[in-house]
Amino acid sequence: MTDTTAPVAYGEHDFDHEDSNRSGNPHFADILQARLGRRQVLGGGLGLAVAAGLFAQPAAALAARREATPGQSAAPATLAGALGFTAVPVGRADTITVPSEYRFDVILPWGEPITGSYPAYLDGGLNSGADQEQQVGQHHDGMHFYPIGRAGSKVSSPNNHGLLVLNHEYIDLAALHPAGAIIVDGVRDADQVRKEIAAHGVSVVEIRKIGSRWTTVRGRYNRRITGATPMAITGPARGHEKLRTAYSPEGTRTRGTLNNCAHGYTPWGTYLACEENWSGYFVNRGTRPREQVRYGVPTTNGRYGWETVEPRFNATAADGNAEGDYRNEPNHFGWNVEIDPFDPTSVPLKRTAMGRFGHEGAVFAQPQTGKPVVVYMGDDAQNEYIYRFVSRHPYFPGSETNKRLLEEGILYVARFDEDGGGEWLPLDVRDAAFRAAAATAGVDFADQGDVLLNTRLAADVVGATRMDRPEWGAVDPNTGTVYFTLTNNSARTPGNVDEPNPRGPNPYGHIIRFNGESGRGTTRRLQWDLFLLSGTQTDSLDPAGNPLTADSIHASPDGLWFDEAGLLWIQTDMSGSQLASGPFGNNAMLAVDLTTNRIKRFFVGPVGCEVTGVVTTPDRRTMFVNIQHPGETGDSNWPDRGLKPRSATVVVTRRDGGIVGT
Ligand code: FEO
Ligand code: CA
Ligand code: CA
Repeated sequence: MTDTTAPVAYGEHDFDHEDSNRSGNPHFADILQARLGRRQVLGGGLGLAVAAGLFAQPAAALAARREATPGQSAAPATLAGALGFTAVPVGRADTITVPSEYRFDVILPWGEPITGSYPAYLDGGLNSGADQEQQVGQHHDGMHFYPIGRAGSKVSSPNNHGLLVLNHEYIDLAALHPAGAIIVDGVRDADQVRKEIAAHGVSVVEIRKIGSRWTTVRGRYNRRITGATPMAITGPARGHEKLRTAYSPEGTRTRGTLNNCAHGYTPWGTYLACEENWSGYFVNRGTRPREQVRYGVPTTNGRYGWETVEPRFNATAADGNAEGDYRNEPNHFGWNVEIDPFDPTSVPLKRTAMGRFGHEGAVFAQPQTGKPVVVYMGDDAQNEYIYRFVSRHPYFPGSETNKRLLEEGILYVARFDEDGGGEWLPLDVRDAAFRAAAATAGVDFADQGDVLLNTRLAADVVGATRMDRPEWGAVDPNTGTVYFTLTNNSARTPGNVDEPNPRGPNPYGHIIRFNGESGRGTTRRLQWDLFLLSGTQTDSLDPAGNPLTADSIHASPDGLWFDEAGLLWIQTDMSGSQLASGPFGNNAMLAVDLTTNRIKRFFVGPVGCEVTGVVTTPDRRTMFVNIQHPGETGDSNWPDRGLKPRSATVVVTRRDGGIVGT
């Protein structure tokens, strides 16, 4: 029997963002009722009144904090020419819209052949699984540009030649397969599953500017890393008994990376693919251990039914020991994966020291010679946490030892206090306070590997602050201040708003900022403020403390990135009714000049897409922006008017060759 109608809802989009945090951690309002009550009296209500209070002294307070924080300098007086472009209005067209002073091209659409035998893309979903393993994956997301060449060279310079490395977060079954998901007697078609696994992961592609156009080079670095690529597990959880599987009885190896959302780029030139909504790919129909429950591993079927073809996606324990089945396979996911884009034979490395959760991205503080590296990370689900990792060993520019910096270190989770302070709390069995907190909570951790496998539980135990879905982070190159998008949170209620998450529910999202690392080593002290409340012209606050305008309204901020000059770029990921009927139009990208606190819309994407992933060449004259899932809501056949819409990378330049963002 062939049944092309899946009996289960394979492939729904808004997976895994629901609140699975059942910890008893109080939301801030529980602790801070007195202060909020006072503000309610002063401001006439919560919501904006509370937020406006937070902005009463933002610039002075933050300036004072920066002065008090060694190693952080004041922002430059101006960002020359920033935001000189004509603002792009809200739009709903099935195209890219950029300011009139700019132009764009499209490169690297899903399905473009980049390696192997370079199988041509066939519209209508007609390529095989083997083809997809040699083609650009689907649903482009986080991305970085690694320059090649010598400054000043006209042939190969860092500004006209490099590797573009990009994540492929998830897939669109209708676009991948002409007849949708094929299921025979409850079993998925094997080549369809192969294709789906191959459409995930990471693409490494050499690109080059020839004349005014960027093109793909069929070069030796090109590589597809997929949901099936062999990888090694490193760090404290390597070899842990909870990592033993039939594939790796020693618990040190695994296959594939999945749901790579945002990313990280290290000071030593490697790339981090971060595993976000990975739990839904598995199923456990038996008794789920805590390291599956807290992450929401399903109990009826995997998201795409891969377990019907690939046993490793079935985490139901069979008779016998763990080396005989895949009960521990979900424990191989939820990590950051370090990839060397310049060594196509390198084995990607899962970095367990950086914790296991719904990793959105990983952003590095400016590295300092002889000091540990510091990495900030968000766990994107409702009411989850913001983390940082501090390496055990110091960074030295050019040293080979940098490649092991992410193997060992201390993972911390953030507690944001009501007074604008807070603390980084170590999740480390060697730390007496951590052990005491675990004992008080009645939670046992066998060892540090167990802590890391249960990172969310460890963070619950120490009393971390539950946040409104932490997405991308970004570090201001001029001040070291760290910014994080909190995209939205429908689960927050008026009764559990708090100072860092002041709206309940929070449909529009906001951006928080806090002190980065000083030059004198890592401090546990946190100082934070709200930077921006996204939303409509009547429910928002811009960085200057005014409502957003027609040129700057937006919702669900997600992508966040500072260019080298310190211009801040915000990308949006609205979905559902907000996208369909809100005042915001299609998803977009905006720029913020922190020296003037002005914000302006720069880019609007096609119908039904998410705008995510942004980077420029070092000279800032070429910008790359990813368009993910055009047509997911609403009809689109962007970019090439074929049968299927395709995720792709957009190349944006100023018509006069000037700096992007001016
Ligand atoms: Fe994949 Fe959190 O966005
Ligand atoms: Ca995202
Ligand atoms: Ca998102």
